[in-house]
Amino acid sequence: MTDELLRYRPEFPILERTVYMISNSLGAMPRGVADSLRSYCETWATRGVRAWEEQWWDMSREVGDAIGVLMNAPSGSVSVHLNVTLCQAVVASCLDFSGRRNKIVYSDMNFPSVMYFWEAQQGRGARVHMVKTDDGIHVPTERLLDAIDEETLLVPVSHVVFRSSYIKDMKAIIEKAHRVGALVVLDAFQSLGNVPLDVQALNADFATGGVLKWLCGGPGTSYLYVRPDLARKLEPKITGWFAHANPFGFEIGATKYSEPPYRFMQGTTNVPGYYAALPGLKIIREAGVERIRAKSKKMTARLIELADQRGWKVNAPRDPEKRGGTVAIDMPNAYEVCQELLRRDVLVDFRPKAGVRFSPHFYNTMEEIDQAIQTVDEILSEIGVAAK
Ligand SMILES: Cc1ncc(COP(=O)(O)O)c(C=O)c1O
Repeated sequence: MTDELLRYRPEFPILERTVYMISNSLGAMPRGVADSLRSYCETWATRGVRAWEEQWWDMSREVGDAIGVLMNAPSGSVSVHLNVTLCQAVVASCLDFSGRRNKIVYSDMNFPSVMYFWEAQQGRGARVHMVKTDDGIHVPTERLLDAIDEETLLVPVSHVVFRSSYIKDMKAIIEKAHRVGALVVLDAFQSLGNVPLDVQALNADFATGGVLKWLCGGPGTSYLYVRPDLARKLEPKITGWFAHANPFGFEIGATKYSEPPYRFMQGTTNVPGYYAALPGLKIIREAGVERIRAKSKKMTARLIELADQRGWKVNAPRDPEKRGGTVAIDMPNAYEVCQELLRRDVLVDFRPKAGVRFSPHFYNTMEEIDQAIQTVDEILSEIGVAAK
């Protein structure tokens, strides 16, 4: 059977030189990024300050929409920011922690930066309730749902867990939160571009993530979707002139909020980051997340099969419907193996409590999966030989 997605391989120069399986951390750079950044330089060099009016001001909306279309977000509902931690801060700045409803519920499988941020809000009146995992792979949905109660203000949770690639039941979480009057921030960093997401079908309140992993968009661009009916009611306190209804009026005094998406923004934007982000977003849209997901399931299944054959511990869900694009494998000497894989141009990473993370994407071949694991075999046998 031909693999249609492999026609995108030539778009990613690094694939000629490496086995690139680290899309959970930094997606491969599309060839088009060089041209796009050249065009940024050209625009700046030739149009100067006119670039803002001609192109750059509206690029925030353009990039937000290019991301939004991948999660079925309506046009104009996604604002762009520097990173996910800041997106959480924008959400927090819309909330009031002074009442009884001030509980923030999440699991200890969240990305640490998100936890650091919410923990720090305790000094501002938030109460953090952290639900713990037993197996390091997931938190039982029921346990999370039980913690969401009438005093819960917000549930910031990962759609796909960075450590284990477990896919959370976002439908159940959002339904429970809404039943008791709480809001949910869905962190789609490890899903969007690899696992289908429909924010409207889920009735998500907020969705955030960045483009540098599965969206191949490089560092510096993250996104915040806000449900349109909710967005118009919220008044972020982290704000600035980009969020003003009349930014070029330079009015004195309190702000007058604009409509979304600019309503959730602050000051001058990361324009080169936008230029870097657009080529990858275009490729992912064209390749299609459904097709990417189908291939991803096959590749992760093969990784698990090969790890099982060798008796290595797999820290990823066995059920393909519950598993995102990463398989963490805790083989013997996992940290050293990871370092050696990098030296041999098999690009992966290591995480404590997880092992070596293999994250193939639509541009990888099935042969590369086998090649990566064979390289581990070689390393382990060499380590074994050296130890004797
Ligand atoms: C699920 C998840 N959330 C958040 C982040 C990082 O957020 P930030 O953009 O603040 O660096 C990561 C990065 O690895 C992640 O995997």
